[in-house]
Amino acid sequence: SKHHQFLQELPKCEHHLHIEGSLSPSLLFRLAKVNNIALPDSSIDSSFASIEALEARYERFTSLNDFLHYYFIGMSVLINASDFESLAYEYFTRAHKDGVHHAEIFFDPQAHTERGIEYKTVVTGLVAAQVRAERDFGLTSKLILCFLRHLSAGDADVSYEKAVALGHFSDGTLAGIGMDSSEVGFPPEIFREVYDKAYAAGIRRTAHAGEEGDSTYISRALDICRTERIDHGIRLVDDEALLKRVAKNKTLVTMCPLSNVRLRCVTKVAELPIRKFLDEGVRFSINSDDPAYFGGYILDNYCAVQDAFSLSFKDWKFIAEGAVEGSWCDDGRKEALL
Ligand code: HPA
Ligand code: ZN
Repeated sequence: SKHHQFLQELPKCEHHLHIEGSLSPSLLFRLAKVNNIALPDSSIDSSFASIEALEARYERFTSLNDFLHYYFIGMSVLINASDFESLAYEYFTRAHKDGVHHAEIFFDPQAHTERGIEYKTVVTGLVAAQVRAERDFGLTSKLILCFLRHLSAGDADVSYEKAVALGHFSDGTLAGIGMDSSEVGFPPEIFREVYDKAYAAGIRRTAHAGEEGDSTYISRALDICRTERIDHGIRLVDDEALLKRVAKNKTLVTMCPLSNVRLRCVTKVAELPIRKFLDEGVRFSINSDDPAYFGGYILDNYCAVQDAFSLSFKDWKFIAEGAVEGSWCDDGRKEALL
């Protein structure tokens, strides 16, 4: 449609994309074969019988944890730096096609080091893809190191210190830290110490909050972990004062509409507080989260928002400019993006 042409051409920034979540079932099966990785036996979980069966299973997630079970199995096929490079370059290729000019992507080092893949292997592959994407498409990108919140604060600290020791925060390889995985029962303050260290070192901070967890997960991320962004943040609507504070501070909320539907945080995109955020001046971006699992890349998410809310040109201008202003790139790049 006419709108969707406009949305394709609109310069986009993506701030909420787990690179491991861009692993398609077809690449998953291909890498399992070449890397000789055993997937769950299809007599135990028939979802692994074929690409089609796995795709069908992805349409029936019941919760964040149900998704995460498949997400962690999926990434077990990633072994070599070249696997991470292929994965990320495929994502950048698709993002470029969707009109993304700048991407800040999450990765989960602990999910790889836990199974014997070195942190350095992961980063080497991702950086190689970033360099190619900038050269081939002019697409700039940053990496955000995420902590798995179902693991301990001590484990998070080991991951953080590994990156510090390699100079990856100071040399710009990493733009900041985040936290992901199971939310309910794993509140932000568990990771207070590592967030305090990052704050003291001038390292940027974000956290998933208010996806399945209530609005206090958002206030605790902001107050205790001093995050500069909130990933998902849909429960912000349950606390009017907090919403007004987020708007006033221009805190970027990185929304993921199709993810929220697939993980049953809402029953449909129209239920999301997009109109409320626009009316209250909350700065937010629209993102794909785990596109290979949730049935859509970034443009699909933009289109789903347009179909649900019929936004005006002015609304889209506010969203697009806020996404640039909320990016973690230098002022020169921001100016070029605007
Ligand atoms: N929420 C929490 N953890 C995640 C997600 C998410 O949407 N995607 C990948 N890890
Ligand atoms: Zn996410």
